[in-house]
Amino acid sequence: MKAVVIRKFGAPEGLAVVDLPVPVPAPGQVRIATEAIGVGGVDAVIRRGTLAAHGFREGHLLGSEVAGRVTAVGEGVDASWTGRRVWAFTGLAGGYAEQAVAAVEDVLPLPDGLTGTDAVTLGGSGVVAHFALDRARLAPGEALLVRGAAGSIGITAVQLATGFGAGAVAVTTSSAERGARLRDLGATHVLDRSGEGGGPGAPSGFDVVIDVVGGPRLPHFLDRLNPNGRFVAVGVVGGQPPEDFGMRLMDAFRRSLSFATFSSDTVPGPDRQAVRSSQFAAAANGDLRTVVHEVLPLDRAEQAHQKMDAGEVFGRIVLAP
Ligand SMILES: NC(=O)c1ccc[n+]([C@@H]2O[C@H](COP(=O)([O-])OP(=O)(O)OC[C@H]3O[C@@H](n4cnc5c(N)ncnc54)[C@H](OP(=O)(O)O)[C@@H]3O)[C@@H](O)[C@H]2O)c1
Repeated sequence: MKAVVIRKFGAPEGLAVVDLPVPVPAPGQVRIATEAIGVGGVDAVIRRGTLAAHGFREGHLLGSEVAGRVTAVGEGVDASWTGRRVWAFTGLAGGYAEQAVAAVEDVLPLPDGLTGTDAVTLGGSGVVAHFALDRARLAPGEALLVRGAAGSIGITAVQLATGFGAGAVAVTTSSAERGARLRDLGATHVLDRSGEGGGPGAPSGFDVVIDVVGGPRLPHFLDRLNPNGRFVAVGVVGGQPPEDFGMRLMDAFRRSLSFATFSSDTVPGPDRQAVRSSQFAAAANGDLRTVVHEVLPLDRAEQAHQKMDAGEVFGRIVLAP
């Protein structure tokens, strides 16, 4: 089968299309003939070699999220899975291929009306958006800022918060065109990457910040929290924050601010699947929108990564075998 591996850590040109044996599902696993493969920020991080200390090596088969039809099941898995169209989390490996394997508990049937492309756009990121807002205890009427809203996590967070009755849903983004697209999805105020702008009536402070970006400017956004405000860091697409960022919270001691990180790894699997299932149903009936930047053939994974590295992607980029 055709697959894409990291031949050399670093630039997207280090990715290579190779022929690999079709994987055999281990006990508890299913095998899926992929029709859509999600390309995520973490794939680029692994490709660059940043996680080499965590056991990732050159030769690694990238990809963590696929959709397609089950073609085989491993020992102990109900044979009725065979032939079903599913979404699956494959771990941090194995997705960029014509056939992928996943543990059956990480597989979810696709509802009628949901494309594989939509499923890999929403499957991983929607859960992060849902539980980050939940952990932040966003209440109706409160003011929210989604920092780095132009990716699939932010796009879902904006829609969920709007539907939930947030008083304001502000976003940061890098262009007016992206701002207009985010307004169309429910954003009420559009700020630039440094948190300025927003127009008349923009909140000066926020009860909740969901932060996909991190990086050197993170402390500036802690300053934008209202008293009792909650900041939830879900990503670091802009790098790590300054080491002493916690001092900003201590300096604001009397404003009772909270800082949390959130990883969906800490949510029990059945809870993740329940939320994912209801989000898939909402997407299938048009209540939740997915934003697909582009679908490229699997053997153009290199170009997909170039587009990610260039910051061109609004929403999700997807590969199709
Ligand atoms: N917490 C979890 O459980 C979990 C799960 C999966 C992934 N993640 C993490 O989530 C992140 C990816 O999320 P995503 O796919 O939604 O994001 P993304 O598409 O990679 O990025 C979101 C947006 O952030 C903005 N941005 C990028 N670099 C920036 C910078 N240096 N400064 C300011 N803004 C910048 C860009 O928008 P503009 O150009 O419009 O500003 C970009 O579109 C990764 O860090 C990944 O590891 C977390």
